Amino acid sequence: MVKILRRERLVPNIHLLEVEAPEVARKCRPGQFVIIMPDERGERIPLTIADWDVKKGSVTSVFMIVGTSTHKLSLLNAGDEVPVFVGPLGKPSEIEKYGTVVCAGGCFGIAAIYPIARALKEAGNKVVTLLDVKANYLLYWEDKLKAVSDEFYVSARDSFFDCKDYIPKTLKSVVKKESGINRVVSIGCTYLMYTCSEATKSLGIKTMVSLNPIMVDGTGMCGACRVTVDGKTKFACVDGPDFDGHLVDWEELFTRRKAYFEDEVQSLCHWERNQFP
Ligand SMILES: Cc1cc2nc3c(=O)[nH]c(=O)nc-3n(C[C@H](O)[C@H](O)[C@H](O)COP(=O)(O)OP(=O)(O)OC[C@H]3O[C@@H](n4cnc5c(N)ncnc54)[C@H](O)[C@@H]3O)c2cc1C
Ligand code: FES
Repeated sequence: MVKILRRERLVPNIHLLEVEAPEVARKCRPGQFVIIMPDERGERIPLTIADWDVKKGSVTSVFMIVGTSTHKLSLLNAGDEVPVFVGPLGKPSEIEKYGTVVCAGGCFGIAAIYPIARALKEAGNKVVTLLDVKANYLLYWEDKLKAVSDEFYVSARDSFFDCKDYIPKTLKSVVKKESGINRVVSIGCTYLMYTCSEATKSLGIKTMVSLNPIMVDGTGMCGACRVTVDGKTKFACVDGPDFDGHLVDWEELFTRRKAYFEDEVQSLCHWERNQFP
């Protein structure tokens, strides 16, 4: 069993989970993920490692509540235990000195992109961070990300920030304004990563995305996370999760992610009925 050190709501629907896992913390690299099971009767779900502390022996993830497992995680508290917490899994993100890199993140991707932005900054890049939120009260980790960014933009649908457009349009304006962008890294929901990749395609700027297909074992054995990249079959858990967004078969990914939609809805309804009779 693995102990929860902290579970905290950051903004509505998005929670932080810090877990005691010294072995995982020692080996973590930016872009990797863990697989966690909220309880003995639950599912194994992947979460990106958003931060870690080798001294404390802890690993932090940030998750958005979307279905049964993430609802269950949101009810855990410090001192509770989970039966499965494995990692770090997946290939670490490519970190080199590219020049100027835009880190574009939304929802849980705001946290997931943090260690990548930090490592890119440490590698000597100029880091331009662009975050997307529906409204200003959904923004979190602003200070953490500002601390590792040379430029910082927020795109929100309300009027609190400069940019009101959805992220791909803002990304295009940022690319124009900053000029000489060498690479874009985009993390968040599938639609956000798809639209960011589309926005940079005609500009020829390499855009890395962290794919989030359904995963089961996370070790390349089950095939659940199959994606097509550059016409070749890849398993996101061992060949990724980072891939070149311009080469991903997005239509296939969108379709495969919906494969268990009805079961997911039924599971959530069943769980809610038992939880809140
Ligand atoms: C490598 C990897 C890393 C990931 N990292 C994170 C992370 O750091 N934080 C995080 O919150 N999630 C992350 N995810 C997604 C996360 O694993 C799923 O959200 C989770 O498995 C959902 O489980 P559930 O039982 O709560 O919902 P389910 O019942 O499985 O899904 C409920 C509904 O939500 C939709 N859905 C599922 N996932 C998402 C999503 N990410 N965004 C929008 N809608 C979704 C499904 O299509 C379904 O309709 C990651 C996925 C992968 C593959
Ligand atoms: S999750 Fe099973 S092969 Fe990737």
